[in-house]
Amino acid sequence: MPWLNSELAPETRAKAALAAMTLDEKLRLIFGYSDQALTELAKVPDEIVAPDLKRYVVSHQVKGSAGFVPGVPRLGIPDQTQTDASMGVRNSFIPSTALPSSLATAASFDPEVPRAGGVMIGAEARATRHNTMLAGGINLAREPRSGRNFEYAGEDPLLAGIMVGALINGIQSNHIISTIKHFAVNDQETLRTSLDVTISAAAMRQSDLLAFELAIEKSSPGSVMCSYNLINGRWGCENDYLLNKVLKHDWGYKGFVMSDWGAVHSTVDAANDGLDQFTGFCCKDDKPWFAPPAMKAALQSGAIPRNRLDDMVERILWAMFAKGVVDHPVQVSPIDYAANAALSQKAAEESLVLLKNDGDLLPLRGVKSIAVLGGSADKGVLAGAGSSDVTPVGGAVTIDNHTYLPSPPVDALKRELPKAKIAFDPGSDLAAAASLAAQSDVAIVFVTRHNSEGSEASLEMVGNQDALVAAVAKANPRTIVVAETGGAIYMPWIDEVPAILEAFYPGIRGGPAIARILTGKVNPSGHLPISFPASADQLARPDIAGLGKPDGTPEEVLYDEGAAIGYKWYDLKGYKPLFWFGHGLSYTNFELSNLAAQPDGKAIRVSFAMRNVGKRQGKGVAQVYVAPADWKKAGWEAPKRLGAFAKANLKPGQIKSIELTIDPRLLATYEAAGNNWHIRAGEYRLMLGEASDDLLKSVAVTLTDAVWSASTTN
Ligand code: BGC
Repeated sequence: MPWLNSELAPETRAKAALAAMTLDEKLRLIFGYSDQALTELAKVPDEIVAPDLKRYVVSHQVKGSAGFVPGVPRLGIPDQTQTDASMGVRNSFIPSTALPSSLATAASFDPEVPRAGGVMIGAEARATRHNTMLAGGINLAREPRSGRNFEYAGEDPLLAGIMVGALINGIQSNHIISTIKHFAVNDQETLRTSLDVTISAAAMRQSDLLAFELAIEKSSPGSVMCSYNLINGRWGCENDYLLNKVLKHDWGYKGFVMSDWGAVHSTVDAANDGLDQFTGFCCKDDKPWFAPPAMKAALQSGAIPRNRLDDMVERILWAMFAKGVVDHPVQVSPIDYAANAALSQKAAEESLVLLKNDGDLLPLRGVKSIAVLGGSADKGVLAGAGSSDVTPVGGAVTIDNHTYLPSPPVDALKRELPKAKIAFDPGSDLAAAASLAAQSDVAIVFVTRHNSEGSEASLEMVGNQDALVAAVAKANPRTIVVAETGGAIYMPWIDEVPAILEAFYPGIRGGPAIARILTGKVNPSGHLPISFPASADQLARPDIAGLGKPDGTPEEVLYDEGAAIGYKWYDLKGYKPLFWFGHGLSYTNFELSNLAAQPDGKAIRVSFAMRNVGKRQGKGVAQVYVAPADWKKAGWEAPKRLGAFAKANLKPGQIKSIELTIDPRLLATYEAAGNNWHIRAGEYRLMLGEASDDLLKSVAVTLTDAVWSASTTN
């Protein structure tokens, strides 16, 4: 069995294994089962899934996980055991370590944070017998209300590409496969299985697809998960343009495309338009599009060419060999949960964003009494819901149907400030909350905003939370708000409170991370990966397309903001959001100097220095934005784009020289006619600062005209 020789190239091994396979064996690899199959498969007719295969699936599947694809034991090809998702192993029977939300780790602006997180969750996947992680969520936060923004890495393609690429690298360092998902433009949850997104090729290439392209280049995920929605009239999982042309041809992608659960709508079109593996089959009412009877008929009639089936299987085998799934079989092994929780805490400490700190109220110093109010801060920290919902070590706390991770900020504050009197009030009675706040040195109000897969979250706070903040702030001017949210929220009370900490969903050790930042043990260094709009009239679409219609209703949406997402949109419109992309404060101050830039081929090389000019150690985030002198003439979607960024850990007085390169695609526009990237000649300004609205230094470079193919295969 030459394909089991790990000295050979994965391409060679995949071809050799393929050549040894029977038709039935090939068909096993392209049809996957969901966890529900364990109980439901018996009801599926035997002609669709043969009895011996049913027995195999039921006896080999990891109970409680997302999915399973049977291997070919005769040839030493292992089963694919699939678990969700980007924040940790999701298995209803196995507890695991939850990282902060992916949106939070993107806020670290340090790829080492998601990489280390990926190493940890990938190791937990291995140790629980999973060799495929359905991770790598990267849909851009085009719709600030999207219920899944917490699973993704924000609004900017460069930041998202780097952060998600790093996560996937970390996961796959465990010799397992990670997906990247959901391909593509699956940017809202409302009518997610029936929405038809209209968007130009150029807008996609410069936004959502660019995020995927950058992340795939950096990390080579074994699989790409195609999305539920339609894009320009074609389903995500039968989309010749996205799957065959862009992904496999232009980007030279060698792995396989797996479907999202229930996202397949045909046999012949899906196979010919680029889907390689149907996943998540369970029940007698499911359409078995890639099951043996349908595939055999399509092969026999020639509707699906034989070599297309071989290509599907070869891609799956390539990923299994290339990522180490075959050479390093997964097995159940012990997990050091304490070490993993500590890693998750560190990720949170790098990621939480200090949004406001008037009069240096934070860090808390010398306070004798603190009133903590609301947000179930005595019970835990909020987590998002859906397929990324981890069963946490220590057990989930369920409050109002929402999952809280067992890491109460109140307990952590008591540990950090043993001498202070810390009292908690749930905040349901405004008068009681205000009275407790009035009697305390400082008040900390926890507000929560629950987000879930499958539905959108309004940016307004639910219940009496806005009133609670206003009442407490009135009673005690030294009021701090800690927001545990899946994304942006409106803050009608912003001018009434001096300090705001955005904690996102901070993970299994969120409590200590919050407490250590509030008390100054940790200097905050997160910066926003999304802008916070000030009001609904600033949104590209005041109404979410299809909102209120029953799931499955066909609906079209025109994403005519194109690539102008987030800060690009606000820039374009001249709006002033509540907080801009890239914003984040520290307990120290940084100075950026010596900015210089020069063209380097089609790219631009930028250098500068960052100095800590404050009194304490801290991590600064420098961001370089590019702005054409005439952005309309340059064909850009908006006046400026993030071109590069860096985070540096500096002691007081310490200075560091930093050199960064701006990828030519971030200077170009995509031209569909010739399938080209094009940089227009002219002057481009490089602007350096610590947020997209705080760019104090700039230099200009002159670029010459450059056109090159967007395809790496021709
Ligand atoms: C989600 C995917 C997930 C899959 C399997 C789907 O509903 O959209 O992100 O990986 O379920 O659980």
